[in-house]
Amino acid sequence: MQNFEEVEKKVQEISLGADNSSQDFDITLGKVKDIWQESVKDKDKLENILLALKNNQELSVKDILSIDDLTIADIELIFTLTYPFKHLFIQQNSKKIPLLKGKSIINLFMEESTRTRTSFELAAKHLGADAVNINKSSSSMAKKGEALNDTVRTINAMMADIIIFRHSKSGSAQMIAHEIKAPVINAGDGIHEHPTQALLDAYTIWERFGSIKDKIVLVVGDIKHSRVAGSLFRIINKLGGKLRLCAPTTLIPYAAEDIFKTEIFTEIEEAIKDADVVYALRPQRERAMESYIPTIREYSKRYCINSERLKFAKSTAIVMHAGPINREIDIRTEVMENQQSVVEEQVTNGFALRMTLLWLMGNKRAQKS
Ligand code: CP
Repeated sequence: MQNFEEVEKKVQEISLGADNSSQDFDITLGKVKDIWQESVKDKDKLENILLALKNNQELSVKDILSIDDLTIADIELIFTLTYPFKHLFIQQNSKKIPLLKGKSIINLFMEESTRTRTSFELAAKHLGADAVNINKSSSSMAKKGEALNDTVRTINAMMADIIIFRHSKSGSAQMIAHEIKAPVINAGDGIHEHPTQALLDAYTIWERFGSIKDKIVLVVGDIKHSRVAGSLFRIINKLGGKLRLCAPTTLIPYAAEDIFKTEIFTEIEEAIKDADVVYALRPQRERAMESYIPTIREYSKRYCINSERLKFAKSTAIVMHAGPINREIDIRTEVMENQQSVVEEQVTNGFALRMTLLWLMGNKRAQKS
């Protein structure tokens, strides 16, 4: 077994963030994974090992609003720390470590959520922070007429250390981040972005394949209204993956081929050939998706991921979905129950990754101008 000094020495040799290319991204993470597996039994020194892997690095951003704002070094740092958070705290049933004792994390969710809100709340609590949930109906906005900006300024004045923010309007996370000192994590803004979902998705692909470079990632469904797709496309491009999207023409955003450097398909049987990742999106009915298709039944007949279609992907392919799932519309139960589905693993990875983000952002309020 290695001691802490040996782990620290090896980590320093890695020089995280020395190069921004996707090639180095993969190699670096492979090394970190090896080091962690060798040192994982040394539970007493867990905090020291986390600090050694962090290696005095900080995120280059004060808010997490868009994947566009993150550097390769930021993503490397996030993945490097998510690995131990997941494997020690979750798999060995030892989740609590008080790295954020005395901090306050506010979940301000103006739209519904199960996965994102709960995982941020649990992540904050496992790090020893105080977590408070505010939603639209329980706030003074719904019936007393308080404006969003005033609500956010009020929370900021209570010296919140991080605000996790979800809203139905695109750009709203950027808007509030400019107003206040507390760092803001965008937990989904309209049809724009959901960056922590993309980070956990990319982490899941990396952990399965050891690399994202040149992996064929097919995204199927309501791309036009999906903030999950908006962030996923950005991160897969950044990390050197090969994107394909498949949808009815009415659900493909204007100029998607050029903007997202993706191949475009309307027939799933063609799109799925040799894919490494098959990512199903739900129809965003709350954003008027149904006015872009003849019927939901017709849509699911052509685009639902079933076992027959999955046979055309690589035999090692994984099936992903951000949830909430609309079974038999975007994905068949037979596929959900299949070993190729990593949908529940995505949720577990999201919990660990959000612990990482909160730890990395817990002291940023003081730095934000
Ligand atoms: N994936 C996701 O954002 O799910 P929730 O809406 O349940 O948070």
